Amino acid sequence: MVIYIGLLFMFIHISYSGIVPVEEAVSYAEAEAVAGGVAMLSCNTTPPVKEDMVYLIIWYKEGLSSPIYSYDSRDKSSKEASHWSDDRTVGGRVSFELGSGKYPARLTLQAVKDSDGGLYRCRVDFKKSPTRNQNVNLTVLLPPDSLAIINEKGDHIPNYILGPYPEGSSINITCIATGGRPPPRVTWWQENALIDEVYEKLPNRQIRNMLKLEKLERKHLNAVFTCQASNNNLVAPISSAVTLDMILSPLNVKILGENRPISADVKYNISCQAVGARPPPRITWIKGNNVLRNFKRVVSEDGNITTSIVSFTPSVEDYGKTLTCRVESHNPSDSDRVYEDSWKLNVHHVPIVTVTFGSKLNHSIIREGVDVYFECIIKSNPWVYKLMWRHNVSN
Ligand SMILES: *[C@@H]1O[C@H](CO)[C@@H](O)[C@H](O)[C@H]1NC(C)=O
Ligand SMILES: *[C@@H]1O[C@H](CO)[C@@H](O)[C@H](O)[C@H]1NC(C)=O
Ligand SMILES: *[C@@H]1O[C@H](CO)[C@@H](O)[C@H](O)[C@H]1NC(C)=O
Ligand SMILES: *[C@@H]1O[C@H](CO)[C@@H](O)[C@H](O)[C@H]1NC(C)=O
Ligand SMILES: *[C@@H]1O[C@H](CO)[C@@H](O)[C@H](O)[C@H]1NC(C)=O
Repeated sequence: MVIYIGLLFMFIHISYSGIVPVEEAVSYAEAEAVAGGVAMLSCNTTPPVKEDMVYLIIWYKEGLSSPIYSYDSRDKSSKEASHWSDDRTVGGRVSFELGSGKYPARLTLQAVKDSDGGLYRCRVDFKKSPTRNQNVNLTVLLPPDSLAIINEKGDHIPNYILGPYPEGSSINITCIATGGRPPPRVTWWQENALIDEVYEKLPNRQIRNMLKLEKLERKHLNAVFTCQASNNNLVAPISSAVTLDMILSPLNVKILGENRPISADVKYNISCQAVGARPPPRITWIKGNNVLRNFKRVVSEDGNITTSIVSFTPSVEDYGKTLTCRVESHNPSDSDRVYEDSWKLNVHHVPIVTVTFGSKLNHSIIREGVDVYFECIIKSNPWVYKLMWRHNVSN
């Protein structure tokens, strides 16, 4: 019993001297803050016994010989307590609030600097109970400085548009984050899905994540790929996004309407539509062996449908010829593919009739009494259904 009282006495005595007794268990906590942000260092100020009260709270920082903050409520109420902070270190950036309810007391440090990191000690002196010391290790996080997205040639991606790349190609895009402490996680996202979280360290405080996209498909057109770099949960990660542009083959080519007979010497507009090609393809028209020149191209607003309208006036000679609409795909892997649609022209015209002497007849030796015969040569589509011979009749 005597020993116990003696010990207790010694404890009280030491704690008022301001020196941390070596044998005292000092609690340890960790705190994180982002540079430029706010740090909160908490400290348990609740007296160990109910009828006791806080007298004095002093904050120290490891490496500094004098305190950085004090709260003094000796012989005052907590509202009248005097606050003091060290101008050379934390000055006006710091404030302290006693805890209430379930919130512990905390020292709040604004505009956190890199140099604010380190071990802090909060010393709480009670009116009756022994002094309590608590350590808080503040880690200052530095968000990454910048992100760069570069293509496989090592070029920065202009206007955040990646490509265009042909359908079927495989590409890789690289995201490089610079700076940050601890080194950030660098990840690739498509929409809200994480698609690549494998990154590697480079020299010069850089982290690289290379995203490989194999065999691009039509569905990847306008896909948005976002690179994110983050080293904490306190502030939003920095990110940068690129949109994938593609070169697409046509899905189909069609001359619009039905291939009905057309009339000679009448002007027609015939349309041909290419769907799904990107960028809008060149469309050419070929009739027989001739290229037609009189056409115009219309591209739908989304660029998905390209229509070419050719104007031409068929002639009798066009009967049986082929009218072809040919679409030139921009996709290099289509070099030996042909995208086209054709019509075989059925040109209607009025019968064209010529009359000649019979071919076996020598018309310079026609005399009375000899037989004469004539040939009627008809060119007509559709074929004639009635044929008449007349002699010396007008109309
Ligand atoms: C404080 O935390 C840092 C890492 O954030 C660590 O390196 C250091 O050792 C810690 N200090 C103490 C005293 O535990
Ligand atoms: C990235 O793409 C380029 C071009 O396609 C290729 O030469 C390079 O080998 C690729 N790099 C990796 C690591 O796949
Ligand atoms: C063909 O198109 C032109 C304009 O492109 C128009 O002026 C003309 O009326 C059209 N002709 C027919 C027969 O539709
Ligand atoms: C283009 O049109 C085709 C057919 O309507 C459709 O299947 C395809 O999704 C469209 N593509 C785009 C990029 O709108
Ligand atoms: C037609 O008859 C004349 C006179 O008999 C003759 O000179 C001429 O060679 C003949 N022509 C033909 C194509 O047989």
